[in-house]
Amino acid sequence: MASVEVLFGDESLEVASNNEGIAVSGVDSILADSPSVQWAMRRGFTVGQILYVLSLDLPVPEGVLERLADDARGKAQGYRTHVWVDAIPERWLEPYARLKARMATDAPAGGLEVEKAQWDAEKVASVIRSYLNFGLRFQVTVAEHIATGELAAFTELSYELTDKTIVQRDTIVDPRHRGHRLGALIKIASLEQVEHDHPSARHVWTWNAEENTHMLAINAELGFTVSRFSAEMQKRV
Ligand SMILES: CC(C)(COP(=O)(O)OP(=O)(O)OC[C@H]1O[C@@H](n2cnc3c(N)ncnc32)[C@H](O)[C@@H]1OP(=O)(O)O)[C@@H](O)C(=O)NCCC(=O)NCCS
Repeated sequence: MASVEVLFGDESLEVASNNEGIAVSGVDSILADSPSVQWAMRRGFTVGQILYVLSLDLPVPEGVLERLADDARGKAQGYRTHVWVDAIPERWLEPYARLKARMATDAPAGGLEVEKAQWDAEKVASVIRSYLNFGLRFQVTVAEHIATGELAAFTELSYELTDKTIVQRDTIVDPRHRGHRLGALIKIASLEQVEHDHPSARHVWTWNAEENTHMLAINAELGFTVSRFSAEMQKRV
């Protein structure tokens, strides 16, 4: 299976955001007209998934994160957050690897064929080393279920201290712990920490599948808006 990701749209589309998430109209027509999508289709690729490229301006206006954190904590009693930069403590590496493997099965895949991912503690540690070797910082924010000590959720950021842009990577809540606003809680804690560690950063970028209503709802609440679109295209080889 070969995959390509092509950028095909910009903010000229109509974007609506409310408590339900982010809704965009006009994507299909831009997709059909896009030269980059047509280029890939001529080579046998088909569109498997539409991704929204979202951005959030930093700093987040005063008081917004505090208010959202208060709301989230109302449903997240019994959990606490930890933020780690450039390393994950040894005791959390295996649980982190298990939850990381679920990204391949739990995040909506649209029409894509996604292979099951193999993760273990060594692979997690080695991925972090690669970020550091590229001169990037890697921040992980997790939620711990206090009563059991389980890893309930994590979210990842990477950034360069010389760059104003932060990249928001994987976010997942273990299915046994969903519905406690942990996705919002860890993203808020992660933003608060990065605003402190990298005060000259001006944007956070992330990508969400258009059908991922739960993640989009959280991002809309935090203030992310749609900047562009991309299509994940796949071809069987
Ligand atoms: C997106 C995600 C992190 C949100 O989890 P969360 O923080 O527990 O969500 P919330 O607490 O805000 O949930 C709000 C409501 O949606 C429900 N919900 C959340 N995620 C759900 C899911 N994947 N499927 C069905 N219902 C879900 C909750 O049960 C809750 O329902 P309620 O209001 O009736 O109690 C979680 O769905 C997830 O881990 N998804 C898989 C990974 C993924 O897609 N990551 C994003 C790509 S990077």
